[in-house]
Amino acid sequence: MNFVTLTLFLVYQVHALSFPENFKFGFATASYQIEGGWNASGKGPNIWDWYTHTYPTRIADLTNGDVACDSYHKIATDVQLLKNIKADFYRFSISWARIFPNGQPNNINPDGVRYYNELINLLLSNNIKPIVTMYHWDLPLGLHQLGGWPNIALVDYFVDYADKLFSLFGDRVKTWITFNEPSQICEFGYSRGFLAPGYTQLGIGNYMCGRTLLIAHAKAYRLYEKKYKQHQKGLVGMTVHAVWFEPAAEGKTYAEAADISLQFMFGWWEHPIYKGDYPPVMRKQINYLSAQQNFTKSRLPYFTKDEIKLIKGTADFLGLNYYTSFLCSPLDSSAVQNPLLSPDSNVTCYQPSSWQSTASSWMKVTPWGFRKILNWIKKEYGNPKVLVTENGYSDTGELQDCNRVNFLNDYLTELLNAIKKDGCNVQGYAAWSLLDNFEWGSGYMQKFGLHYVNFSDPNRARTPKMSAYVLRNIIKTKKIDTTFTPQGFKACPPS
Ligand SMILES: *[C@@H]1O[C@H](CO)[C@@H](O)[C@H](O)[C@H]1NC(C)=O
Ligand SMILES: *[C@@H]1O[C@H](CO)[C@@H](O)[C@H](O)[C@H]1NC(C)=O
Ligand SMILES: *[C@@H]1O[C@H](CO)[C@@H](O)[C@H](O)[C@H]1NC(C)=O
Ligand SMILES: *[C@@H]1O[C@H](CO)[C@@H](O)[C@H](O)[C@H]1NC(C)=O
Repeated sequence: MNFVTLTLFLVYQVHALSFPENFKFGFATASYQIEGGWNASGKGPNIWDWYTHTYPTRIADLTNGDVACDSYHKIATDVQLLKNIKADFYRFSISWARIFPNGQPNNINPDGVRYYNELINLLLSNNIKPIVTMYHWDLPLGLHQLGGWPNIALVDYFVDYADKLFSLFGDRVKTWITFNEPSQICEFGYSRGFLAPGYTQLGIGNYMCGRTLLIAHAKAYRLYEKKYKQHQKGLVGMTVHAVWFEPAAEGKTYAEAADISLQFMFGWWEHPIYKGDYPPVMRKQINYLSAQQNFTKSRLPYFTKDEIKLIKGTADFLGLNYYTSFLCSPLDSSAVQNPLLSPDSNVTCYQPSSWQSTASSWMKVTPWGFRKILNWIKKEYGNPKVLVTENGYSDTGELQDCNRVNFLNDYLTELLNAIKKDGCNVQGYAAWSLLDNFEWGSGYMQKFGLHYVNFSDPNRARTPKMSAYVLRNIIKTKKIDTTFTPQGFKACPPS
């Protein structure tokens, strides 16, 4: 190598490993998982309060979110943590029942408004942008009692709620996420029953719920467009959890199985938003099976032409939660179906036991899938603006969290490759999660936090883990340095 090519090579390396100047880093949480204050100052009960109190044994360690990280009482502490790790933004969710205690829009709880105003104002005064999720799984119990998400009437309730949030906070909040992980809300809440409300209307409740969420999302987006966008100048999108599904072997049927899986989990939401209507393979497969099963009509409800138009184009960005990958094959009668997917997909997906595991049974470490899903999104939806709204690793809570450090370095390297080498339009990255917290059906047994929380301490003391310092260094330098070892920690063995 002569001097010029060496210099070019080095410049390229440095360039290739730097995040774009305007790339934003942040941290994500959800109201029920961290806030606590479940019955404080006028807040109404939601389905997670009800579910954990009524069916305590459905939570692995018999716990609940009554107190959680007590973030309801710790605005200043949490904002200070964010400031210490140099967050550009904080993605948190609003607890609907803290704003409208029983879900009805005529009865607003002033303390809920105060709480989120204080949080938003303190973030902004520390130069941290609030990114608000309107719905992260904690439906007011009153709306559950009216049928919950399978009831199409919830569209109007959600739109009234969204309208109130835009008018209360939209002068300061410029990025809105309507729903977090609609697949999990619908498939797990109403078809498989892993998450509240825990119903098992297999192949029915999921699609009724999905229709409501898509129309509610679209109407909230249109409302913002019409009533707020011109003066508030914010963005509205939805966050969807994507698993990367890789063909388990060579050949057309395997490629098809992987593609069907992507469509059933991810395309279910993004196809109506970016291309119009459900993915054709979902329509075809569910119609076929519904007829076989002697239903009088498809279990996948049809949108009207107007609804298809209403939904199409309702995203200013694509919110992506990415954690893991699976290998997929056509369904073989001996195989167990992947519980992440509707059985209607008629495919089987698994994770080889040789892949590095995490504390979560559904998740193995697959950084390579990050670049693949980002490229798939680019190709499938015309390179939309993507905001990674969650990505993280679960363990049992070590402060010297080398597996999480390696996870961050490896996943962020793939993300950088997707941006720099493949031209994927990714604008930001949120680590899940700011804090160890209540991980739904797993209680406090799976820790995703970059900060340790002492749950036996009434004060819920927070301590940064090694990974918090590593990510802070990445934010500060815009570079990934796999040799970086923060003071007070030992160097990690390579991944
Ligand atoms: C809130 O719930 C706690 C139990 O978690 C209970 O001790 C307390 O009395 C309740 N407070 C109100 C105001 O209902
Ligand atoms: C549907 O109806 C056909 C004809 O009556 C019957 O043979 C078949 O077993 C039914 N299928 C189911 C899933 O009930
Ligand atoms: C499911 O997949 C198997 C294997 O590819 C195929 O034989 C079967 O016809 C499929 N069933 C449906 C309902 O599509
Ligand atoms: C957690 O808090 C309890 C109660 O304050 C304390 O006894 C314990 O030492 C703390 N544990 C850690 C690891 O800080």
